Amino acid sequence: MVFNSPISSEKADRIIQLLGLTSKDRVLDAGCGCGEFLIRLCERSGAHGLGVDKDLQSIAAAREAAKDRISGTQCEFRNADITNVPLEPHSFDLALCIGSTHAYGSGDAAYPNTIDSFLRLVRAGGQLLIGEGYWKRDPAPEYLRLIGEPVGIYRDHSGNISFAEQHGLVPLYAAVSNDDEWDHFEWSHRMKMERQAVSTVADPAAAEKLERSRRWRDMARRSTRPGEAGDLGVPSNQRRSRRAVSGGLAWSFRGAGRCQEVER
Ligand SMILES: C[S@@+](CC[C@H](N)C(=O)[O-])C[C@H]1O[C@@H](n2cnc3c(N)ncnc32)[C@H](O)[C@@H]1O
Repeated sequence: MVFNSPISSEKADRIIQLLGLTSKDRVLDAGCGCGEFLIRLCERSGAHGLGVDKDLQSIAAAREAAKDRISGTQCEFRNADITNVPLEPHSFDLALCIGSTHAYGSGDAAYPNTIDSFLRLVRAGGQLLIGEGYWKRDPAPEYLRLIGEPVGIYRDHSGNISFAEQHGLVPLYAAVSNDDEWDHFEWSHRMKMERQAVSTVADPAAAEKLERSRRWRDMARRSTRPGEAGDLGVPSNQRRSRRAVSGGLAWSFRGAGRCQEVER
């Protein structure tokens, strides 16, 4: 799994190109996971990066992935809770957060808090890139029960964009994850968990994690592809139209040209 989010390499590359960064720019990736997006961005643009994630294994993987591609001085990966990292106000040209807004708060506070924090960190005229979930349709109650609190995913795609506009941001670009990206994301996760379970000795915590992952993926599959006969089958249009629930990330970056004028 290249990204821990439903985004293809092609889409990530396109967005990186559209950001138009140069070696003079400084980038924050909040909840960077294994760092692939930030590493690519730094590789292609020469920009300087800071990636922060609270998961130690992810940060170790990010450092390992970066080491033959960019220098340690160009990009730093820090293992920390992003909300505890002291960062100079308006010191970044781009702040990005892909699938990680829950780092800034739970439930419907996640997305607004991320925007607020980023407005304090990005320079006037800088950019924000936020990958935020949204429901395409109202989720089934049993799906919500399974995933626990629906983290920050209360708006629709258009609502995510409007909300940022209301905070003084200018939308520059938006894209959503497609079915293929979601399938790859969900199934890669499931495959990883299944393979780990085979290769590790009996561990009750791992078994519980696997069981939860199985229920989650199955529920997601049933909810998003109702009526599909087989996992490998190509759904007919009719079946597709019966889709009940899906999530998608709005890959939106928003010009923060007026961020210092925002009253709060
Ligand atoms: C769905 S993953 C996305 C990772 C990465 N952005 C990507 O797209 O591949 C969410 C990440 O947010 C991180 N995270 C959650 N809360 C955090 C916090 N308070 N501070 C830093 N990282 C956090 C998790 O450890 C996880 O790696």
